[in-house]
Amino acid sequence: ILQEAKEQLEKAKTLAETDEIRVKVLGKKGQLTEILKGMKKLPPEEKKELGQAANKVRNEVENLLEEKFAQVKAAAKEAQFKLEKIDVTEPGEDMSLGVKHPITITIEEISDIFMSMGYSIAEGPQVESVFNAFDALNSPKNHPSRDVTDTFYIAKDTVLRPHTSSVQIRTLMSQKPPIKIIAPGRCFRCDTPDATHSPMFHQVEGLIVDEGITMADLKGTLDSMAKQLFGSSTRTKFRPHHFPFTEPSAEMDVSCFKCGGKGCRICKGSGWIEILGCGMVHPNVLAVGGIDTEKYTGFAFGMGVERIAMLKYGVDDIRLFYENDMRFINQFK
Ligand code: PHE
Repeated sequence: ILQEAKEQLEKAKTLAETDEIRVKVLGKKGQLTEILKGMKKLPPEEKKELGQAANKVRNEVENLLEEKFAQVKAAAKEAQFKLEKIDVTEPGEDMSLGVKHPITITIEEISDIFMSMGYSIAEGPQVESVFNAFDALNSPKNHPSRDVTDTFYIAKDTVLRPHTSSVQIRTLMSQKPPIKIIAPGRCFRCDTPDATHSPMFHQVEGLIVDEGITMADLKGTLDSMAKQLFGSSTRTKFRPHHFPFTEPSAEMDVSCFKCGGKGCRICKGSGWIEILGCGMVHPNVLAVGGIDTEKYTGFAFGMGVERIAMLKYGVDDIRLFYENDMRFINQFK
């Protein structure tokens, strides 16, 4: 029995295998146990002799088992350690931090400039009523911008807002003068994408209503903004324009500071880039908010964020902003 147990124990590799041997020899129905049970029938002389021999075998098997158990347990631990080992000297994995999108950076910069002038941020939904997007903005029923070829209709009276000017209406109907807000956000128009057009783009709207606001305030505010945004040598130019919701209306151009003259990719050699529409808020629009048009005046503006970002960073294709090409985005770290 001892010899057999020894040989088997040498071959055993696992805890389970070792325990199997223990049961086979020392278990309730084990080889040695059976022998001891059979001893009762033997005469006293033989009993003593066999008893001593059996005890010796049991002791030795127990010792062998103990040794083997210790061995396999250590081996198992070792294997576990190997599996869990961490090499603290190994170089770490590169965790690439995200970067802000250039459009986000630009919106934040514009917002900071206006917040420093005391404006607060207003918001409105991208899915907007025709009333807020057109009617309340004094837009005539036959205005071309209302056409389904220009504006995305979700339903008869619901559109994807074609400009952030709808936030003007929401603000006028919910606040009393003095009003001083900007409203950054997404806009949508049925334009075929090319280097300068995208059916989705961003604007920052502005609205101020108070006593004694004049066109001079409008020009001073927007000129100051342009200088903070593009540099103190930036010049601005106001050209007469028409919007239904402002009177008088204008577009503002800024001098192209990227200008490489005739071949300039950004301003096409003109030296000027239009970045916003603006004007004195039309009395019909103020009236929508129940504002006393004898007492209060205001100005409003809406600027194209992509335009501004393109000028600021020298980007010559608007589509680059929406392709999520990390080689492009990572340049704005
Ligand atoms: N909503 C106009 C546009 O999208 C811009 C604008 C806003 C003009 C406010 C005047 C006043 O072109």
